[in-house]
Amino acid sequence: MSKFMDWVDARFPATKMWEDHLSKYYAPKNFNFFYFFGSLALLVLVNQIVTGVWLTMSYTPSAEEAFASVEYIMRDVEYGSILRLLHSTGASAFFIVVYLHMFRGLLYGSYQKPRELVWVFGMLIYLALMAEAFMGYLLPWGQMSYWGAQVIISLFGAIPLIGDDLTQWIRGDYLISGITLNRFFALHVVALPIVILGLVVLHILALHEVGSNNPDGVDIKKHKDENGIPLDGIAFHPYYTVKDIVGVVVFLFIFCFIVFFFPEMGGYFLEKPNFEPANPFKTPEHIAPVWYFTPFYAILRAVPDKLLGVIAMGAAIAVLFVLPWLDRSPVKSMRYKGWLSRIWLVVFCISFVILGILGVLAPTPGRTLLSQVCTFLYFAYFILMPFYTRLEKTKPVPERVTG
Ligand code: HEM
Repeated sequence: MSKFMDWVDARFPATKMWEDHLSKYYAPKNFNFFYFFGSLALLVLVNQIVTGVWLTMSYTPSAEEAFASVEYIMRDVEYGSILRLLHSTGASAFFIVVYLHMFRGLLYGSYQKPRELVWVFGMLIYLALMAEAFMGYLLPWGQMSYWGAQVIISLFGAIPLIGDDLTQWIRGDYLISGITLNRFFALHVVALPIVILGLVVLHILALHEVGSNNPDGVDIKKHKDENGIPLDGIAFHPYYTVKDIVGVVVFLFIFCFIVFFFPEMGGYFLEKPNFEPANPFKTPEHIAPVWYFTPFYAILRAVPDKLLGVIAMGAAIAVLFVLPWLDRSPVKSMRYKGWLSRIWLVVFCISFVILGILGVLAPTPGRTLLSQVCTFLYFAYFILMPFYTRLEKTKPVPERVTG
């Protein structure tokens, strides 16, 4: 075996990569619950790719046959229903895991210097993930697939001058048709998965270049032993590979429970109108995107003007990209930041959740007002950040991790 590895290593850096990224990658020893979600995101990504490949074997990407082919997968293909529900539930699980993963970043300032690029690659993943989910949602060719895509694509029509041409270019037709379905299929199963995989590699390479942050936000590289190993670091493998398995088991338990017993999740994971085939002549009573898009959809609807609404929605995502440069705090972790940072993080999270709820519901004057208040608070969290992070009094950060 070792002779074989010598042969490989002389031609390919297998052992070097194993050591650099696993057995000699020293991660802070104080990782907590929130550090499970990176590896879980990887697990869900693999689930989506594997189940997606198998679904593609029986799915037909044409307007005439798509809906029926999904029914066929659900009823006749062996293990088809499990494959499909693992994939549809996996989409929601992906966003739950990624939102918690991003929240961890906000909590411990993991986006701050020197991890700005880790965050920016993460945001690019998030953007690609949204495009991936949006395009995948058209594929079952149900009522919500059709009309959801109709609402979102028509948003591009609000752009002055080029709007109409742009929507037509995206659809490839005067209305959403089999041509649109075909291109979304190509992007969903080939182009975007490649982009996401590539970005995940860049994300992890950028992280391993500078090393992981931790709940205390202290730099473990400041204190090393005589061999150059951080005193507060432990080898990723076997310590965190084993720990991550615990997260994987708990996650799979909950995930499989949902897949087997509540795959529709009361209409949140699989929306009810999507059990009817797409009908371009019949608008569903109430069109709402899937839950993971609803905070941004609520921001769009909070602004009375369509173009300004689209700009606000785009800005709500764009502002997350520049977060590393908005936080001027001398400390990273919320453990040592002041009260203003903590209060604003709570306000931001509550606003985001309320927007998410409002985005599912039909608008009323009261709800619109509430969504305007939450939109204001959402942006205030970012815009005021350079000020409150500098003004507030921070606590002294310990030299070593506190466990
Ligand atoms: C497919 C989606 C993603 C995958 C597979 C993924 C994977 C990972 C992994 C394996 C880690 C190291 C383990 C950990 O710290 O939990 C990590 C760290 C990190 N990720 Fe992601 N990630 C994804 C999306 C994102 C997104 C959307 C963001 C934010 C915009 C993000 C921001 C970060 C940050 C800041 C760290 C460093 C955390 C720290 O050291 O405290 N990631 N990611």
